[in-house]
Amino acid sequence: MQVTVIGTGYVGLVTAIGLADAKHDVVCVDLNKERMEQLAQGIAPITEEGIEEALQKNQSRLTFTTEYPLSDLYLVAVGTPERADGSCDLSAVQAVVKLIHSIQPDAAVVLKSTIPPGTTESLQEMYPSLRFAMVPEFLREGTAIRDMRNPHRVIIGTHDQGLAESLADLFKTNAPIVHVDPTTAELTKYAANSFLAVKISFINEIARLADIVGADVEDVAHGIGLDPRIGPAFLKAGAGYGGSCFPKDIAALTTLAQRQGEHLHVIEAADRTNEAQLEYVLQKIDPRPGLRIALLGLSFKPGTDDLRDAPALRLAERLTKMGVIVTGYDPAAKTLLDQKKTIEEAVAGAEVAVIMTEWDDIKHVTPQQLTANMKTARLIDGRNCWAFVDEPGDVQYEGIGRPGKTFSNNPTS
Ligand code: UDX
Repeated sequence: MQVTVIGTGYVGLVTAIGLADAKHDVVCVDLNKERMEQLAQGIAPITEEGIEEALQKNQSRLTFTTEYPLSDLYLVAVGTPERADGSCDLSAVQAVVKLIHSIQPDAAVVLKSTIPPGTTESLQEMYPSLRFAMVPEFLREGTAIRDMRNPHRVIIGTHDQGLAESLADLFKTNAPIVHVDPTTAELTKYAANSFLAVKISFINEIARLADIVGADVEDVAHGIGLDPRIGPAFLKAGAGYGGSCFPKDIAALTTLAQRQGEHLHVIEAADRTNEAQLEYVLQKIDPRPGLRIALLGLSFKPGTDDLRDAPALRLAERLTKMGVIVTGYDPAAKTLLDQKKTIEEAVAGAEVAVIMTEWDDIKHVTPQQLTANMKTARLIDGRNCWAFVDEPGDVQYEGIGRPGKTFSNNPTS
């Protein structure tokens, strides 16, 4: 099948590669000419493990252009950013659908962008001759190629039986395929992201309590996660979640509900807890003007250079406003922050180091690296990623919900 993918962000690009992997010819369309030229040369616009190899492997099946071709099927994967009022900005999706309609009024249009419940139905009403389906994407940054090759499920939301069958064939997988109506598919995506955010905020609240009562949240998470009704994933306490999806999707869903006179109390609370979690890290730092702080890890999670809604940047903003002197280190992400090339350079002369992203090299920083370079070797582990091994060097360590853990070569301290 010849497929056109519109939008070459995370979702569009990775979906296009997945379809090319499955031997389909894919035309990728994006308004960004420079990006298209780079992609045609096999250069990926995002840092993602395995993406350039996958692009090169599928070069003969992938075309990159700024022009819309005639096509059997259009996959729409353009951005749906957050508006100032929290709602979802659908203008790019609407513009793309309008254009497809003007080129091919009876085309099949598959919406991959995250769109609020009801969007596909209202587009269908507006363009009755187009055949719509909503197929949400669940891939994670950092493991996008792996996730695309091994999805946990494919949700196909459409009223069009013929299109549902073609899409089941197109996205062929060993994972379950769930056929639903478009609004259910849209809500499934938001419900999945909201649930994961709730899980994170839940364990972050338990972590704060663990700090108070003197328990270890890592052991609590392990203990509850062994119950299959709870499961071990997304129970890592820390500085809170960020990224391009959770904050924006929660804002869109809660705004949509509020406009209908409904309050999503649990989901709204997850968001508030996430904000409070950053304050909690700030409290642990105990900032004062002139304090020197090194932030270790800036991207919103390891494996990506993505800084969208990154907790490290939000923290840096708060700290600099308080007159704290902040340096940063990240192996991939680039910011305007006073950023250093090595961990040693970043922590040199600092009084506090704060781990904000659990990159491998940051996880493996040794107490000696800190004690040799910092003014006072104080480490706040905002990702609970340091392992407790006996290594020489005195580091004043504080995790999130891990009270009483110390690093020391002095058995009496
Ligand atoms: C998320 C969803 O996982 C994915 O299914 C969806 O398609 C897009 O949104 P992503 O934003 O790439 O993916 O990252 P994810 O791995 O979910 O992490 C999101 C944030 O939560 C990160 O800031 C991460 O550090 C944080 N997190 C995650 C925790 O704080 N604790 C955890 O246990 C897990």
